[in-house]
Formats: sequence, structure tokens, C-alpha cells
Amino acid sequence: MTQIKKIGLFTSGGDAPGMNAAIRAVVRTAKYYNIEVVGIRRGYEGMINGEMFPMDGKSVANIIQRGGTILKTARSEQFKTADGRRLAYDQLVKHGIQGLVAIGGDGTFTGARIFGSEYDMPVVGLPGTIDNDLYGTDFTIGYDTAINTVIDAVDKIRDTAESHDRLFIVEVMGRDSGLIALRTGIASGAEAIIIPETKRDINALMDRLENGRKDKSSKIVMVAEGEDPGGAFEIGRQVKEKFPNYDTRVSILGHIQRGGKPSCMDRVLASRVGVAAVEALRDGHRNEMIGIVHNEIAFTPFEHACKHHVEINANFLKIVEILSI
Ligand code: F6P
Repeated sequence: MTQIKKIGLFTSGGDAPGMNAAIRAVVRTAKYYNIEVVGIRRGYEGMINGEMFPMDGKSVANIIQRGGTILKTARSEQFKTADGRRLAYDQLVKHGIQGLVAIGGDGTFTGARIFGSEYDMPVVGLPGTIDNDLYGTDFTIGYDTAINTVIDAVDKIRDTAESHDRLFIVEVMGRDSGLIALRTGIASGAEAIIIPETKRDINALMDRLENGRKDKSSKIVMVAEGEDPGGAFEIGRQVKEKFPNYDTRVSILGHIQRGGKPSCMDRVLASRVGVAAVEALRDGHRNEMIGIVHNEIAFTPFEHACKHHVEINANFLKIVEILSI
């Protein structure tokens, strides 16, 4: 096995708080092991265009507490094509890169898996997404910060809901995954949760509103954005139609969920997997995501990390039902 001397590092897909802490950990660990790091800007797009620069221990000073990603990020259409991947590979070779650390979510790892099957370039991935929807890690970098941002916002909404006797439909992020809605629903005392995994069960919500306690002055329904057009607004419309006596409002939390200072949990998670990524490349790992399962570093092939669905814990839904009576 040839000893890796130079690695490339990039973030890709949606930004997530804690990505900078992961970048810092990778760069500093590489320095510790005398490996050079090339930062690649704007994910696969930047790789194709050769947007690369050397990084040293100093270049990641004072970023552990910052949200977003200093490397910038993008969702690349070009990398989905064979020509795009060829251009990217040529750039990596030109810059003497012998291995890659990719920080991102399922789109990032799908790209990495295909790339890894076409070219002899070891790639390891760090789970960076607020959605927490990757198989092979208990938590993804950014999830803890995002859910804390959400409960902070919903606590504020609850003040208005309580003061005006209102029902709020609150939409949180998660196009394909209800994990943000599920956990924040419990933590903010939501009366109901609607997530893509349960096929946005509107009838169950209507039953709940019909048969639930009538004397509650405020009600919060947490909805994961999902892919259905209209999302929370459509649910709000149906609720208003069926329960015209409720003073109903819709609130979309949007991208505030992706920004801000990473929580302690996210910084520590990012630091742990960041160190493990460089050590993994040194040890000859490739095509694997590095996560933490039961508090231990765990390696999961990219294809499993993306394809295996993260199961919804049915107990969580039951907890909401029990606690919201
Ligand atoms: O994957 C992270 C995420 O924030 C999802 O929760 C959301 O559905 C999506 O990205 C939004 O992406 P964009 O910012 O590109 O619209």
C-alpha cells in the first residue's frame, strides 16, 4: 500500500452546522500525520473546475464555532455525468491528490460511490446534513444544532399560539425524512406530527383534532416539508375547512434551520469523525462513510449509507400521542 501524502477535502450538498468543525479536524489531523491537504471549493462543481488551494493548520483557525462551510458547497448536475466525473478526476490527478474526504449527505455519497467505482481514488465520507437520514451513524453533523434551532423557534410560536388560542401548523425541513419533525415534535410538546414516512396521514391528524382535548388553548402540529406540493399550506387549508372554529396559522421555518453556531454535540461529533477520516485513508479504507454508532466509530459502505432507509422509531410517534392528551 502506498502511503497517502496528499488528500483533497470538500463539502457538498446542503450546508450543515458543524461542517467547519469537521474541516478543521481533517486538516489538523492530516498535519499531525504529515499529510498535505488541498481544499476544494464548492463541492463537485469546484472539483471539476479545479477550484483548489492548499490548506494548513492555520487556515482552519477560529472556525470550529462557525456555521456554514468555509469551503462553500453546491449541488452539482455536471458531476452526475461521466464527462463531469472525468474532468474532476483529471483535476485531482493534476493537483497530486491521492485520496478524498467528502463531507455531505446522500447525494454527496451517491456521487462518491459512482466515482469510486470508475476511478482508482479512495474516498471516505463524513455525514454532514441536518436531516439525520444516513444509515450507519446515530447522528449526522448538523442535526443536533438544527433541532435545537427548531425548538427555540417553536417555543416562540407557542407563546403566540397560547396568547391567541391558535392552532399552528409548523413546517420544518426534511424533503425525504421526518426525523427533524419527529424529535422536535416531542421536544416542543406538539399535539401531532406529520412526516413523509407515514405518508402524511392527514386523516389521522383530523381524527386527533376531532377527538383530542377541546380545552387546550394552543395547538402545534409539526410537519416535515416532504415533496408534496403545497406542504404545510395545503394541510392548513384542509384543517381550516374542516375546523373553521380553530384560529389556524401556518409557519414555515425554512433555512434558519441550516444556519448558526454548531452545538457542542455537533462540534464533538465532527471532530471525532474528522480525525477518523484521515486515519481511515491512511489505513486503506475507501468508499465508506464514517459515522458513530453506539458511541463508537463505525464504517459503512456508501451504498448502504444512502440506500438503507433510516427507520422511524414508532415509539416516538406513540410518545407524542400519549403526551399530548
Ligand atoms: O438536505 C438538507 C435540506 O435542508 C433538506 O432538509 C431540505 O429538504 C433541502 O436540504 C433543501 O435544499 P435547498 O436549500 O437546496 O433548497
